[in-house]
Amino acid sequence: MKNTVLTMQNSKKDGTKISMLTAYDYSTAKLIDEAGINAILVGDSLGNVMLGYENTLAVTMEDMIHHGAAVARGAKNAMVVIDMPFMSYQTSVYDAVVNAGRLVKEAGANAVKLEGGLEVCPQITAIVNAGIPVMAHLGLTPQSINAFGGFKVQGKTAEKAQKLLDDARAVEKAGAFALVLECIPSKLAERITKELTIPTIGIGAGSECDGQVLVYQDMLGMFSDFTPKFVKKYTSVGEAMKEAFKAYHEEINNGSFPCEEHTYYIDSKVVDGLK
Ligand code: KIV
Repeated sequence: MKNTVLTMQNSKKDGTKISMLTAYDYSTAKLIDEAGINAILVGDSLGNVMLGYENTLAVTMEDMIHHGAAVARGAKNAMVVIDMPFMSYQTSVYDAVVNAGRLVKEAGANAVKLEGGLEVCPQITAIVNAGIPVMAHLGLTPQSINAFGGFKVQGKTAEKAQKLLDDARAVEKAGAFALVLECIPSKLAERITKELTIPTIGIGAGSECDGQVLVYQDMLGMFSDFTPKFVKKYTSVGEAMKEAFKAYHEEINNGSFPCEEHTYYIDSKVVDGLK
């Protein structure tokens, strides 16, 4: 059955945890979907893990639509949430609604995600009023990397923790159906989770959140540029891929690939008779 905003709301009520992973292409989305993960995030982290940028700032609406549509085609049961890229909603409420609409119409998003607190509440309300569910995102919000001065744990002082709690209350009031909490102390995430009626999805925010999200290349051990402390590597797919690529290279060179089972045949008289 398709996971929806109702699944998320019910999970919060009955205490069932929500699982979410990123995906950026059809084949991966299909595998994640078949594994029974509740939601897929087409994160703008695609700038890092798919496109090789240093951060997410260069990611465009066209990138998100292109990858988002591929994921939506592969996700039968998982809810598909697509990130609104940098400068697709910060500029105005009008831009926010138009661009959220494009992610639904052109990519097939079930919901959109955007970063920020009080300052983006008018955008959240306007998008929700247009009939599009919004997932909010607080804490280490990568689109503000230049303002933060680097990837650091957020909300550690009393003042910053209070601001995060106030922002969490504000995005809920503005109409967000869920909230991603990234890279904040677990006690603060627990306090926010207990107070809000919408589910919190943690990434580096401890175990008391209502759900968890990870970038799939991180949890599969496929991305080695940097690995935050909060990542658990469930396997080493990157190493397995490298081994397979090496074996392929060697077999091409030593003539053992392709062999009989990978080869198509024709009566040699046909070839011999060619003029
Ligand atoms: O872009 C992304 O993948 C994200 C997650 C890290 C939450 O926003």
